[in-house]
Amino acid sequence: MTAPTRNQKLIDFVDRVAALTTPDAVVWCDGSTEEYDRLCQEMVDSGTFVRLDGEKRPNSYLCRSHPSDVARVENRTFICTEKKEDAGPTNNWMAPAEMRATLDKAFAGCMKGRTMYVIPFSMGPIGSPIAYNAIEITDSPYVVVNMHIMTRVGTAVLDSIGEDGFFIPCVHSVGAPLADGQADVPWPCEPDIDNKYIVHYPETREIWSYGSGYGGNALLGKKCLALRIASTMARDEGWLAEHMLILGLESPDGERTYVAGAFPSACGKTNLAMVLPPKGLEGWKATTVGDDIAWIKPRPDGTLRAINPEYGFFGVAPGTNYKSNPMAMETLRANCIFTNVALTDDGDVWWEGMDGEPPAHAIDWKGNEWTPASGTPAAHPNSRFTAPAGQCPTIDPAWEDPEGVPISAFLFGGRLSSTFPLVYEAFDWQHGVFLAASMGSEATAAAIGQESIRRDPFAMLPFIGYNMAEYWGHWLTFAEREGLKLPKIFRVNWFRKDDNGKFIWPGFGQNMRVLEWIVERVKGRTEAVESPFGMMPSYQAINWAGLDFGRDKYHGITDIARAGAVHEADALKDYFGQFGDALPAEMEAERKALEDRAKGAPDVWSSAA
Ligand code: GTP
Ligand code: SPV
Ligand code: MN
Repeated sequence: MTAPTRNQKLIDFVDRVAALTTPDAVVWCDGSTEEYDRLCQEMVDSGTFVRLDGEKRPNSYLCRSHPSDVARVENRTFICTEKKEDAGPTNNWMAPAEMRATLDKAFAGCMKGRTMYVIPFSMGPIGSPIAYNAIEITDSPYVVVNMHIMTRVGTAVLDSIGEDGFFIPCVHSVGAPLADGQADVPWPCEPDIDNKYIVHYPETREIWSYGSGYGGNALLGKKCLALRIASTMARDEGWLAEHMLILGLESPDGERTYVAGAFPSACGKTNLAMVLPPKGLEGWKATTVGDDIAWIKPRPDGTLRAINPEYGFFGVAPGTNYKSNPMAMETLRANCIFTNVALTDDGDVWWEGMDGEPPAHAIDWKGNEWTPASGTPAAHPNSRFTAPAGQCPTIDPAWEDPEGVPISAFLFGGRLSSTFPLVYEAFDWQHGVFLAASMGSEATAAAIGQESIRRDPFAMLPFIGYNMAEYWGHWLTFAEREGLKLPKIFRVNWFRKDDNGKFIWPGFGQNMRVLEWIVERVKGRTEAVESPFGMMPSYQAINWAGLDFGRDKYHGITDIARAGAVHEADALKDYFGQFGDALPAEMEAERKALEDRAKGAPDVWSSAA
């Protein structure tokens, strides 16, 4: 097939990868519906896809991965900078020359027996001043159709790159060449985790991924490009690439405020991005711009404007239901790909936590017979849906605005079962950077090979493309830039538990009450009281209309035990220590200030008598 471009760099890139990987054929993707339908049908015919029932789940498919290939592989993810310290202590590092030699061997002949697809894609509205163009080469048709949903794919992107325009080259292989006459399997991949490689060369803006077909390992526009490579570009160019949802909040008087929120993987970004105002807050409207990634650039008017670089949602399925996330359920009605969920006897999907009774019989994510008595999950805990963002009933009218939306507040929150209150506001930008840098979370299913509790600064621990401490420094520079309208910064925590291990805060739609307080703070219309951690709402400052949530319960999720706060300041000393000289002095100053406030606090600090 002749290349549909005259960009010599692009043609050379494709030729070089084809020569190395020796596919049977090379196909340039055009992003059309015809292409999507054809590849899906091919995967149905080969046994990779199951077409779901046309009435219950029109134009939708189920896919089961290999049981060894179910999540991102953080211990096989590498940041290859010339100097080790530029990757920092939180990233796996290898020298670029050494890694290139290793990958040259792995990729040699790795596409034999397969088709090599060339996917031109844009992260963000094509041609937006905040967007970037890229090319993903892959030997996985599953990746092609998922990229169709998750990014803007097609010939328009080639036009936008033009004859000599910039693009980010991304190479992906499932790492499963086929010998002559060898039959394929439904989910080819490299089963040995030690032979998988998710590799980034931030200095030359390149991505090479080998051995996995799942999610962020393979859909290279997402974590590899939009976070790891983009965070480095953002540092160099003065903007922000963040693991954040973007949400519009329209108050009863019709004013719209946009907020962006960073939460670690599987900690509620998709839920919050699609939040529905609960009973009592009907005057409010919430609209969705993005659920996972935000690219944020300072614009000439001093605002920080954000786009969602993605085009779809790759969301966690288990736990999604009409009560927890009705807008997600509506988004999933048609035109979706479901990976590693269960298949019901009537040709629909099911996962743990879906509405209603579990089915009496299903086929589980491994393809085995399943009943509620099986004692194993029917859907994998990290099973996911791929859904077009435009289908979300609450999608924001400006979600494709190439200029982005102005951000007025940043939220940071992890899963923390004790000590940390429902919501608190930073005293200023520097304190806010400290609050984001010190964020932590308890384990989730979205990643394997992690400890049970970990610090996850800015929810970027697995996604920062350079030295984490330098990244905090980059955020600090925003306070010094002239004419910038800096958003307010908040920490939130939906996950405080009682003595029986139950969540105290109802969460989900009720989080809207916290968002209302945040908007009122942004507008300067409501009071806050000073605590050792930051500025907090008293009980009366929250709108409780329509919810029975008494003062005692409120104190249960907002009280601060001095011992807990002192312990946090101590623990951060060790944590920050690992960054050595790279740690900005401001971070230690903020830590010391927390220590002093904590030591001077009463045994139990409370926002109201
Ligand atoms: P990635 O796509 O992995 O980046 O994650 P995400 O942050 O988008 O995760 P998602 O929204 O899918 O998080 C799902 C998990 O968070 C489920 O276990 C939900 O039950 C839980 N969750 C979301 N919102 C809340 C909440 O307000 N309260 C509680 N207790 N759990 C919540
Ligand atoms: C995450 O793990 O934060 C995700 C899913 O959003 S993945 O795309 O697989 O990284
Ligand atoms: Mn994510």
